[in-house]
Amino acid sequence: MRNKIVAGNWKMNKTMEEAVALTSEIVNMAKDEVTGDAQVILCPPALYLTTIQKYIADAPNFSVAAQNVSDKLSGAYTGEISAPMLQSIGVKYVLIGHSERRQYFNETDAILAEKVNVALAHDIAPIFCCGESLEQRQNEDYIGFVKNQLTAGLFHLSKEQILSVVIAYEPIWAIGTGLTASAEQAQEMHAALRSHVSEKYGQEVADQLSILYGGSVSASSAPELFAAPDIDGGLVGGASLKSRDFTEIIKAR
Ligand code: G3P
Repeated sequence: MRNKIVAGNWKMNKTMEEAVALTSEIVNMAKDEVTGDAQVILCPPALYLTTIQKYIADAPNFSVAAQNVSDKLSGAYTGEISAPMLQSIGVKYVLIGHSERRQYFNETDAILAEKVNVALAHDIAPIFCCGESLEQRQNEDYIGFVKNQLTAGLFHLSKEQILSVVIAYEPIWAIGTGLTASAEQAQEMHAALRSHVSEKYGQEVADQLSILYGGSVSASSAPELFAAPDIDGGLVGGASLKSRDFTEIIKAR
């Protein structure tokens, strides 16, 4: 049975006071919804991880994720945060390969593959992000492009290791634009990615992987998206910064 996951990527938003208030509101509104195989993962700025952990401590199936992790374990890398550091504060998930990090911080496939390795080596589950640009969707083999992102970032892993990974498909043209992929568009890619995993690791493994959709997920678009057979939840940006909207998305899964 795949976990149904709704993750909120807060990106570089909220002061500490605002982050605590948002967390408390979400927990109060949603904690009774998050049962069984449902999970909520909050991805606050790293500064707030230990504090947010305290505010979700009594909410079953709530976790935090870091938004990034260094591919290095320690050393002269000013501003970076390592997997041992995240492990030392009990973080169990980390976003890896978000399009904004690929774009703004030049994170290559090789760097991302190493980030996956260091995360897994420290018992931190990668939420591995992938997705095509608008130009690629219009002019290229966009499915082949995203499959290659999985191959480059994940397909060096063993069967046991890949089972710890959550995949997040986020078409770049839908991120922050209000232009959500249709359920058909998202399902097409999710099915193709699950098939790609199956070709490498077998259907039993592929059927266990949670594949999340991200890209302008809203309270109105979530129900149809999450009803698709290969969409196992969402990685939510803007809507996760509003407790009522995010709670409605959690309820939709
Ligand atoms: O990581 C999730 C994010 O990239 C999606 O952002 O604002 O389009 O939901 P948004």
